[in-house]
Amino acid sequence: MVQPNRLFIALLPDPETRAAIFKAGRDLSIMLQPGGRPVREENLHLTLMFLGDTVSMDEQQAAIAAAERVALGPIALTLDHGATFAGNTSTWWLGSRSVSEPLLELRRQLHAAIVERKVPYDRQRFSPHVTIVRQAQSRLPSTNIKPIRWRCEAFSLMRSPLDEPGGIYETLATWPLEARTLMEAGQIPLL
Ligand code: 2AM
Repeated sequence: MVQPNRLFIALLPDPETRAAIFKAGRDLSIMLQPGGRPVREENLHLTLMFLGDTVSMDEQQAAIAAAERVALGPIALTLDHGATFAGNTSTWWLGSRSVSEPLLELRRQLHAAIVERKVPYDRQRFSPHVTIVRQAQSRLPSTNIKPIRWRCEAFSLMRSPLDEPGGIYETLATWPLEARTLMEAGQIPLL
């Protein structure tokens, strides 16, 4: 029988940024009353790749090996507005109006490594966002917020408890985003 094992790879905000995101979500909710279920503060994250609901232990190990291949420095993000997607108006999220090239590069490296190791993943287009409310009863028209600056210094493999909606995510592994020399990254510099 296939075992439930919902895994995703994500950026997790540091506690200060997380508190600012939670507060921005709460302020929008107080103002616009979406109903639904606010994402608990400790679960706030930006999904880089969703791997599925029944990831096998072999696939989990392969995903860990894939993530280890990523070589990238810290990423500076600014969350500056809240909105909903056209096709899913019940999920409220915060995001950035400008595209972050380093974030796209992180996703590109991760994607390439995951594909190389044949780990299954959700092929939906990458739309960076931090979900703040689920099952909202109204859409969130694009609304500016006081910009939240987020310096991402790591990314993590996460497990979501499938049997407990709104339960706390488990961090299975974390990798630093740090500037490394070519030698440290296992590459030989061309002289
Ligand atoms: P969301 O925050 O936009 O809902 C754990 O379920 C995480 O994986 C959530 O952040 C969720 O995104 C993301 N995710 C992406 N695709 C998913 C899918 N098909 N099913 C469940 N979660 C998915």
